[in-house]
Amino acid sequence: MRRVLILGGTGWLGREIARLAVAAGDSVTCLARGESGAAPAGIEFVQADRRKPGAYATLQRDWDEVIELAYEPELVQPALDALARHAAHWTLVSTVSVYASNDSLGPNEPLADETAALVHPTDMDDYGHAKAAAEAATAAALGGRENRPRLLTVRPGLIVGPGDPTDRFGYWPARLQRGGAVLAPDTQSRFVQVIDVADLAEWLVRAGRERRTGIVNAVGDVHPMADFFAQALEAVRSDADLVTAEDAWLVKHGVNYWAGPHSLPLWIPTADAGLTQRSNRRYLEAGGTLRPLHETIERSLADEVARGVDRARRSGLSSAEERELLTALARDADPGAAFSVAQRRRDNN
Ligand SMILES: NC(=O)c1ccc[n+]([C@@H]2O[C@H](COP(=O)([O-])OP(=O)(O)OC[C@H]3O[C@@H](n4cnc5c(N)ncnc54)[C@H](OP(=O)(O)O)[C@@H]3O)[C@@H](O)[C@H]2O)c1
Repeated sequence: MRRVLILGGTGWLGREIARLAVAAGDSVTCLARGESGAAPAGIEFVQADRRKPGAYATLQRDWDEVIELAYEPELVQPALDALARHAAHWTLVSTVSVYASNDSLGPNEPLADETAALVHPTDMDDYGHAKAAAEAATAAALGGRENRPRLLTVRPGLIVGPGDPTDRFGYWPARLQRGGAVLAPDTQSRFVQVIDVADLAEWLVRAGRERRTGIVNAVGDVHPMADFFAQALEAVRSDADLVTAEDAWLVKHGVNYWAGPHSLPLWIPTADAGLTQRSNRRYLEAGGTLRPLHETIERSLADEVARGVDRARRSGLSSAEERELLTALARDADPGAAFSVAQRRRDNN
């Protein structure tokens, strides 16, 4: 029986990895405090704070696979010191935020792959910097000529699907299903690139079993944002009417990019569109799978309905905030500042 140690396992992705590894017949141990969530069923749970001495004391055994989900240097380095020599294979879950540039691509430019330059990690409070430092520390501990390669570094892009604690992606299917006038960003020169949590977790477990090594962007296909909205509208089958506001107007009215309170999720400055234009060639060549985008939208919608579309959420606009913005937009409206997609569709027909 494979012995798998997950450094984490109580969070969203880690829990899914643990569940699938147990289902695949692995003996799974998870190390965490238990603050992010309960320990998954069917595993050995080692409850410890990795910032405290002795956290790894009971884990000094041989592991077929270690999966690291954390990135803070004070968690990553002691784990490497304590466990690297016991691990036949190590998977570090990193992020595409380690790349130095998110510049949007020109029309004929190829998608950026894993050889793109990384940030120089100087600011450990910055997520991308800390992940880049975690990558370097892990490569240093697990590399070396005497070892055969045993490190897989995985750089996911935006992870989406049922259970997403950030409430980003699900905002759109949930909001579109409610119908009516929906405040949306201009989709021109914008893209959506996501990976379903189930696809990612399944591949991470399989890649560990296959002892894959190297560096892999785990990202979905690049979809023009307009296609994403078209597929989401199709999936929810509502009378939603997208009302587009220009970037400058949204920024002026305090709407945040990407995620968090008072945001339009997935909306990023067009200059940073490279964040959503990463190559997934290696992921696909390594056997990674991607379900169709509409399936992920449908899965997210079902999850939103189950969790309650009217719950307080971590990302997006509340109904009251959106209503206020739509009223202001209508007041400011001129043909250049706002238009109704539904109206445009009617005009085009
Ligand atoms: N969400 C995205 O779109 C996205 C995109 C790219 C990459 N990623 C990466 O994907 C992974 C997602 O992992 P996840 O969903 O499982 O959640 P997570 O919260 O990122 O995982 C961190 C894990 O470490 C544990 N932990 C944190 N501090 C600890 C401490 N002091 N001692 C012991 N354990 C500690 C947490 O458990 P306790 O709190 O219970 O201790 C949790 O299980 C992360 O590596 C993230 O950076 C995410």
